[in-house]
Amino acid sequence: MALFNILKKEDGTPQQRPVPQHIAVIMDGNGRWAKKRGLPRTAGHKVGAETFRNIATYCKDIGVKYFTVYAFSTENWKRPAEEVDTLMNLFRRYLKEAIETMAERGVSVRVIGDLSVLAEDIRELIADCDRESAKMEDPAVATLCINYGGRDEIKNAVRAIAQQVQSGALQPEDITEDTISRHLYTADMPDPDLIIRPSGEIRTSNFLLWQSAYAEYYFTDVLWPDFKPEHLEAAIEDFNRRQRRFGGV
Ligand code: IPE
Ligand code: IPE
Ligand code: MG
Repeated sequence: MALFNILKKEDGTPQQRPVPQHIAVIMDGNGRWAKKRGLPRTAGHKVGAETFRNIATYCKDIGVKYFTVYAFSTENWKRPAEEVDTLMNLFRRYLKEAIETMAERGVSVRVIGDLSVLAEDIRELIADCDRESAKMEDPAVATLCINYGGRDEIKNAVRAIAQQVQSGALQPEDITEDTISRHLYTADMPDPDLIIRPSGEIRTSNFLLWQSAYAEYYFTDVLWPDFKPEHLEAAIEDFNRRQRRFGGV
């Protein structure tokens, strides 16, 4: 069961309202937001990146310990090269900014996914981010999923476990659910409590497949570039009304 932090009011006084420990978001609807305005899809991604900054900060301010966003899927390479380039440039810009400001902001930024195919300079920025994060004590954690796919993640975990079995280091009967969890990119964080998908789509699109087993989902028609703290508040309020049973009664 997740731990809950108490939301702090603007003046710092605690308010009796729990917030989820781990919130994840499928950042969707950037393209449609731009289309509605007669703008190129890339314009939607730029505003979407601003939304990510605002919501990540807001999450930290209200005491959410883990905030994880789906930024680029293993399937998103199918998009036009110009759009992929814009997204990669937005990641570059954000990572540079994060390296400089994360200590001061108290939010460590990490990136998960199959990073091996990303451009070398992006991988270096991610390594710099990791170095800065390692210096921080008990920070809030913002995780960007880039070239992330839930199935790809599970496949990689299975491969690593199979290698241990093959070498004799592990017996098949000793493989538990925990063995699998520990081989995922998210090994060192709790499962998400609340997964939000804006833009009206009601599917997971390959996001945190294993980790979402008991997550509460929240869907809204709001497009990601229009997503404001008040929408996050609505999602948290809805989450707080749910009864999580985890299979019990
Ligand atoms: C989400 O917005 C951003 C990424 C998937 C990278 P979309 O680009 O998917 O926006 P829509 O779904 O086309 O509106
Ligand atoms: C999911 O959005 C991936 C990210 C938000 C990064 P998509 O826009 O790629 O998902 P589909 O194609 O609508 O399922
Ligand atoms: Mg989409």
